[in-house]
Amino acid sequence: MLDARERLIVALDVPSLREAEALVARLGDTAVFYKIGYQLGFAGGLGLAADLIASGKQVFLDFKLHDIGNTVQKGVESVAKLGATFLTVHAYPQTMKAAVAGREGSKLRILGVTVLTSYDDADLAAAGYDMSVPELAAARAEQARDIGIDGLVCSAEEVRRLRDIAGPGMVLVTPGIRPAGSAAGDQKRIVTPARAIESGADYLVVGRPVVEARDPKAAAEAIVSEIEHATGNRRGS
Ligand code: C5P
Repeated sequence: MLDARERLIVALDVPSLREAEALVARLGDTAVFYKIGYQLGFAGGLGLAADLIASGKQVFLDFKLHDIGNTVQKGVESVAKLGATFLTVHAYPQTMKAAVAGREGSKLRILGVTVLTSYDDADLAAAGYDMSVPELAAARAEQARDIGIDGLVCSAEEVRRLRDIAGPGMVLVTPGIRPAGSAAGDQKRIVTPARAIESGADYLVVGRPVVEARDPKAAAEAIVSEIEHATGNRRGS
């Protein structure tokens, strides 16, 4: 059973190393798991990832890989050597197979991105898909499970449905989290931390509600205690 603190992944969605380091320092022991994406990753964030890992924190590299199999496999091998805990890939079968091969023998866990949480059915139609968000997410989850992917990134609305497909062994990681009263931003499918945990999400990814808070540590602490209270009402626990 995970500690409530371990379930909160703070997205370091800031433009510079200086700001990221300041945020990490401010959060102190409140945050033990950080997500680094494009913005910081391409601004020196991989060095910070190595430093965070060396200091005992866990790191989620949200690079949503998708390329030819050989390129994905070699890239994943490098991420595994870095000591990261999670890495995202888009949930296309060829990409997922290559990622699973690349993380072999390491502690890295691969997360498949089924459908981005900023997408709705109209966005999928514009991208050429003749499927609704739930249909595409379910189809990709089945493929991920069959290929041996370790977990999925999904909206909290999808957690119950995906848990039935994924089974208890896969981790479900949920962005689009908004504590009551915070702005949705560009997220189209949002829920509170408590709802997400009660639905069966294992980890919550939270960016702006912590990063843009006047007091990020207090905001993160409030989310951790909401997670703690909700854990008892968790589906399946
Ligand atoms: O600021 P906010 O809490 O919306 O940040 C959510 C984080 O989760 C962002 O870093 C975003 O890129 C990421 N994410 C997402 N939807 C996915 C995968 C990752 O919002 N499907």
